[in-house]
Amino acid sequence: MTRHLTSLYDLTPQDVLAILDSAADLKARHESGERPQLLQGRVLAQMFEKPSLRTRNSFEAAMINLGGAGIFLTTEEAGLSGRESLRDVATVLSSYSDIITMRTFSQQLIEDFAKISSCPVINALSDERHPCQALTDLLTIRESFGRLEGLHLVFVGDGNNVAMSLAIACAMTGMKFTLAVPQGFLMPQEFCADLADRFPGSQVEQVHDPSSAVRTADVVYTDVWASMGQEEEAERRQRAFADFQVNAALMNLAPAATRFMHDLPAKRGLEVTDDVMDGSSSIVFQQAENRMHLARGLFAWLLAE
Ligand code: CP
Ligand code: NVA
Repeated sequence: MTRHLTSLYDLTPQDVLAILDSAADLKARHESGERPQLLQGRVLAQMFEKPSLRTRNSFEAAMINLGGAGIFLTTEEAGLSGRESLRDVATVLSSYSDIITMRTFSQQLIEDFAKISSCPVINALSDERHPCQALTDLLTIRESFGRLEGLHLVFVGDGNNVAMSLAIACAMTGMKFTLAVPQGFLMPQEFCADLADRFPGSQVEQVHDPSSAVRTADVVYTDVWASMGQEEEAERRQRAFADFQVNAALMNLAPAATRFMHDLPAKRGLEVTDDVMDGSSSIVFQQAENRMHLARGLFAWLLAE
């Protein structure tokens, strides 16, 4: 059976740990100079309709590192804006590829494509999910704390794609997830109800006071206030999120061992200040580098099955 990663819900908690272990193993080998050619001759096709620095290039670097190669095309170039049917595009492109990654506005488009594709389809970000970011974040947190279970991640900001995937990731690994969010920007009610249904006993909460939320945080995490596609709302969002900036004053309320994370790109001076991004608690560039290690671990895991 072809396995996909359209959302973390495609994985079991055991799968998540297996992918993290695969990534950690390949990272250690990479750092010792090894370049295992596990995917020689394999083809990665990437189809994006939004810009990307980390996701696109870490995926391509990962495939090259493992002995394969990458093809890049926009969804428009692929013909998904009306040139031909999704069924035909998915059938043809998957016949050339071993893995397909997709970055789209619509989550449904990725899920529909995966149903037809003959090779694994990986969500490279949609408006609702960013599973590879969340897996990378778990890898990075585990490197910093030596464990996941029992830790508390406080996401200060929008109840967006990154927040929702992190909420799922925390529920799957026994971490507590708190979203500190202004009124009007919460994660959707149906999403929270579904998550609680799938993972009874998971600890996922939404609050409106970041100052009290960060006092028990192991990780303080933030993301842009206006995601790709929300550029016209940027000013309204800046006003709404003004009290939700992660700055030194907020980080000083958290325990000394608390780490700061951001999926990037960051709007420095808005959701996070320079002193926090570049400060000693920040692990954002370790996190960004880990996108590549996670991608290698994920590709190797997916194609080994
Ligand atoms: N974090 C992340 O997905 O970054 P890009 O948008 O640059 O891929
Ligand atoms: N929430 C952001 C994440 C970017 C990696 C966006 O969707 O633009």
